Amino acid sequence: MNVTQLIDTANAMMIEGKGLLAMDESNPTCNKRFAALGIAQTPEARRIYRDLIVTTPGLGDFISGAILFDETLRQQTNAGISFVDALKKAGIIPGIKVDMGARDMAGFPGEKVTEGLDGLRSRLVEYAAMGARFAKWRAVITVGDGIPTQACIDANMHALARYAALCQDAGLVPMVEPEVLMDGSHTLDQCLVATEKSQHALFHQLYQMRVDLRGVILKPNMVLPGKQCPQQDNVDRVADATITCLLKHVPAAVPSVAFLSGGQSAELASQRLNAMNVRFKGRLPWVLTFSYSRAIQQPALELWRGQPANITSAQQALHHRASCNSAARRGVYNAAMEKGPGRS
Ligand code: G3H
Repeated sequence: MNVTQLIDTANAMMIEGKGLLAMDESNPTCNKRFAALGIAQTPEARRIYRDLIVTTPGLGDFISGAILFDETLRQQTNAGISFVDALKKAGIIPGIKVDMGARDMAGFPGEKVTEGLDGLRSRLVEYAAMGARFAKWRAVITVGDGIPTQACIDANMHALARYAALCQDAGLVPMVEPEVLMDGSHTLDQCLVATEKSQHALFHQLYQMRVDLRGVILKPNMVLPGKQCPQQDNVDRVADATITCLLKHVPAAVPSVAFLSGGQSAELASQRLNAMNVRFKGRLPWVLTFSYSRAIQQPALELWRGQPANITSAQQALHHRASCNSAARRGVYNAAMEKGPGRS
């Protein structure tokens, strides 16, 4: 393992003012989002959409790294170059999603465990040779009646640590994503308990598996009430609960925390990240940034709708959300940034 190379990559990913773009939706997830907007669900439609994203002018001003799905890594842009090379040209570090998805966990109704460890070592070697420099694995934890169980948390965090160790061995920075889902009517406090247990178990497992935390990016959920919870807490309460949880469970050796958006609205995702960076300025051991998919892409996807004539406006929307989140990462985002032509 070349620790210096891992640390250099992790540092480049968390460079001042920038964050990560998740564009690694699996084919079924991407198809579901396309279907909702009447867009064709084909490899070519997915390629055209990813071309739209990667060729957005100025994207590299706000985005330091982008996570691709296997299919995209093997495709080319309209200009006939690989997506990896197009990202590099835009000053964006290419990464790859390497888990094989969350499946029902046998014996644990309502809970899931992420698969993908079998054969991972050789897939990582191939991805590194193709130009990927970091790799993401997502574990999902569901909050509900009597869940999450400790067994589900332990199984998922063990898999995350096994994958992280394999990544570092292959020279890729692991982006570990333990996501407590927003689905459900649970309260913020219930999310907090599940998030605390997950992060505690995760760092125990990472330590057990001898993962060097200086070359790891944590991609956690924010601590939020469930989408159906009648009590929707304000931005400051979310910021305080999220940071208190992280301070208790995430070692200072971790260079960066890059949040997922998890189904929050695009504006709330910016507001909450901004509040954390404002309220805890100068008091945190790690950089706080974003690794959003829906909270960056959704407005652009809704504008594009598969129509070539909409590409420019979709790219402008994508650029706008990236710039808002860059501002939030610096703690200078404000509501006025959402006003202007074509914006609410
Ligand atoms: O695995 C999930 C993505 O990397 C983040 O997606 O921001 O829509 O939650 P999201």
